[in-house]
Amino acid sequence: MIRTISDLQKRDLNHVWHPCSQMKDYEDFPPIVIKSGKGIYLYDENGKQYIDAVSSWWVNLFGHCNERISTALANQAFQLEHAIFANFTHEPAILLAEKLVEITPDGLSKVFFADNGSSAIEVALKMSFQYHMQKNKQSKKRFLALTDAYHGETLGALSVGGVGLYNQVFQPLLLDTVRVQGPDCFRCPFNEKPNNCNTPCITAVEEKLKLHHEEIAAIIIEPLIQAAAGMKMYPPSYLKKLKALCLQYDVHLIADEIAVGFGRTGTMFACEQAGITPDFMCLSKGLTGGYLPLSVVLTTDDVYEAFYDDYQTMKAFLHSHSYTGNPLACRVALEVLQIFEDEHYIKQIEEKSTYMKELASKIFQHHPYVGEYRQTGMVGAIELVKNKETKEPFPSEERIGYHIYQIALEKGLLLRPLGNTLYFMPPYVISKKEIRIMIGLTHESIQQYFENVQNSKVVLEVE
Ligand SMILES: Cc1ncc(COP(=O)(O)O)c(C=O)c1O
Repeated sequence: MIRTISDLQKRDLNHVWHPCSQMKDYEDFPPIVIKSGKGIYLYDENGKQYIDAVSSWWVNLFGHCNERISTALANQAFQLEHAIFANFTHEPAILLAEKLVEITPDGLSKVFFADNGSSAIEVALKMSFQYHMQKNKQSKKRFLALTDAYHGETLGALSVGGVGLYNQVFQPLLLDTVRVQGPDCFRCPFNEKPNNCNTPCITAVEEKLKLHHEEIAAIIIEPLIQAAAGMKMYPPSYLKKLKALCLQYDVHLIADEIAVGFGRTGTMFACEQAGITPDFMCLSKGLTGGYLPLSVVLTTDDVYEAFYDDYQTMKAFLHSHSYTGNPLACRVALEVLQIFEDEHYIKQIEEKSTYMKELASKIFQHHPYVGEYRQTGMVGAIELVKNKETKEPFPSEERIGYHIYQIALEKGLLLRPLGNTLYFMPPYVISKKEIRIMIGLTHESIQQYFENVQNSKVVLEVE
C-alpha cells in the first residue's frame, strides 16, 4: 500500500515528539493532522471524518466544539483569563468548588485545585502522607496500590501504578509501594460468577493491611474500572469492602475518578454505586468536558483540619502549580456541570448505555476471538483472545490492537485500543444511530484484521 504524507505531517515529524508513542512507528504511520471537530467527529486536513469513540483520551463529554461550552469559554476569556491563586480568588473557582462539594459523596467538603490528572494524584498522595506526619504517625510513609493500576505518569503517580509498560524502566526512581493483586473478573482465580460474586479477592488487601497497616498512609484505587489496564471492571461491593478495611486499619482511601468520574460508569461518580465516601477524590478529564486541563482533589474536614494552624507550626500544604484554579478552565467546568443538569445526561447515559450493551454483546460475545464483551455505564470493552476457551491472550508483540486501530482509522473510526482490548468511551452526545455505526465499524475492522491484513506493509511517499 502506498500512502502520501502531507507538508504538515512532514513538518510535525521534524520537531514534534508525540506522547505514548514509539516515534519510529510514525515512519510508516504518520500523525493524522486534525483541523476541526464537531460533536462526536474529528476532521482531518483532507476533510476525512473520524468518530471519536475514545473521547480523545476520555476527556470529551458533550462533543467537540460544543456551542454552550465554547461560548462560556469565550465570554470568560474577555473577563479574566488567569490570576495567581494564592491570596487571590475568583468567582469561577468559588462556584465550581461549591458545586463539586454539592454533587460528590457526602463528607467531601474541601477542594484543592491542580491542573491535570497526574498532579491531582501527587496532591492526594502528599496530603495523605503529610496528614499522618502531622498526626504523629511517622511510620505511615508507604502507599498500597493494586496490580494493573494506572494513576498517571509523574514519578509519584507511576510509583502507585502497576502497568509495567509505563513504569518498569523507572523502577529505581520510584517509591516503595505495597502492591496487592487487584480484582480480575475476566480471569477470576476464584471462579466467581459476575452476577453472584462475593469478592473473595478482597482478602488479599486485608492480608496486606494486617501486615503493613502501620506503614501505610493510603490505598489508592480506580473505582469500578481499571481503565488503562484494558478497561478491567469490578463490582461496587469490592469498593464497599475496601472502604470498611480502610476504616478498620486507619488508612486513607484515595479514589482516583479521573477516568471514571462525570457519568462514565452510569452514575455521576463511581463511588456512589458503593455508597462510600473516600478520604480523597481526584477528578480531571471530563471535568472540563475535554476543553482545558484542570483537576481537583476533594477531601474531608478531618484532613483539612490537620493542616490548619498558625503559620509557624509549618503545617500548611505548600503545594502549587502556576495554573492552579485557572478561571477559563473553572468557567468551562461550571458550564459542563450545568449541561449535565439541564440536559438530564445521567438519564441519557442510562438509555444510551443500555442500547450500546445490548447491541455490542449481541455482535461481539460469540466472535471466535472475543474473550469477553464487558460494559459499565458508557464504557464498553472487547477483550480479544487467542483462545476463547482458555482465555489465552495474544502475545503483546503481535500488536493486534494497534493493527486493528489502523484499519479502523481507514474506516473513519478512532478506537486507540489498550493492548488486546478495544473499547468504546464515546462522548455522551452520540446518537443511537452513531452507536450502531461505531459498533459496526469496529466489527468490520476486527474481521478485516483476522481475514487478511496481518502481514500488509505500508510504504510512504512524500507529496
Ligand atoms: C485513572 C487515571 N488517573 C490518572 C490519570 C492521569 O491523568 P493525566 O493524563 O491528566 O495526567 C489518568 C489518565 O489517563 C487516569 O486514567
